[in-house]
Amino acid sequence: MPAEPIDFEISPGCDRIALCGGPYSNFGAVEAFLAQTASLPHRFCLGDIGGFGPQPNRTLDLLRQAGVVCLQGNYDYAVGAGERDCGCGYSDPRDRQFAQISYDYTYAHTAPGHRAWLHTLPPLIRLHWRDGSILLCHGSPDQVNEFVWESTTADPWITACLERYGVDGICATHTGIPWVRAVPGGFWCNVGVLGRPAHEGQPHVYFAELEFPAGCAAPVPRIVPLVYNPEPVVAAMAEAGLPQEFQDSLLSGVWTTCAEVLPEAERAVRPRQVRGETSG
Ligand SMILES: [Fe+2]
Repeated sequence: MPAEPIDFEISPGCDRIALCGGPYSNFGAVEAFLAQTASLPHRFCLGDIGGFGPQPNRTLDLLRQAGVVCLQGNYDYAVGAGERDCGCGYSDPRDRQFAQISYDYTYAHTAPGHRAWLHTLPPLIRLHWRDGSILLCHGSPDQVNEFVWESTTADPWITACLERYGVDGICATHTGIPWVRAVPGGFWCNVGVLGRPAHEGQPHVYFAELEFPAGCAAPVPRIVPLVYNPEPVVAAMAEAGLPQEFQDSLLSGVWTTCAEVLPEAERAVRPRQVRGETSG
């Protein structure tokens, strides 16, 4: 059974918040996200703080010191609970092999104090914002490591999730590819990930903002591109002995590992939905 969400109140005067997904120890992108959203009163991270990148404590320190409210992704659960793999849900043998390299490195280099903190994170948060409410989850509301892709998700499934939790929108991450869709009853927003590019052939990454202009009935999601310098992160990956394939992916913007999970429609290297406004 999925956990009951914890409740979080957004102050009525707030008209914009930021949400990031999957930092994957990419401290360069996390620094850029924190700088770009520094003026916002509420910032959230939808989980998978470690994995893929180098020096996991560095990203954990950044997010915790900035007061970013964090959900527990599958990676955070695994590291916090001392599991032996990340629980990402990959089925391809090569993907699983690379995922295990990431996990073993991340687990070994995450400080015990951070592991204990990851263990305490909630899997679901329900935001209450004026008369609206938004559910934050990692994969889906029902399953932390569910891959909810744009091409394989039907509107009625989203509407049923919204109704079940009584919310106006659901924000998720986990897949690595951002997308937004308005459906009857609200919206679904995959906020993307900070940790690696969106398989576009460009090194930038994505996060999301929710805006709640005066006079609107509910917050409106928007996907925001984030340009940062991947070079220091790549240098730290090399120093840590992480695979060349991981380093190449940050520089080229093309997934070189863990890409077999992509459905046919998402598999092409192409620009993603960058404006992100729900368009019905
Ligand atoms: Fe995940």
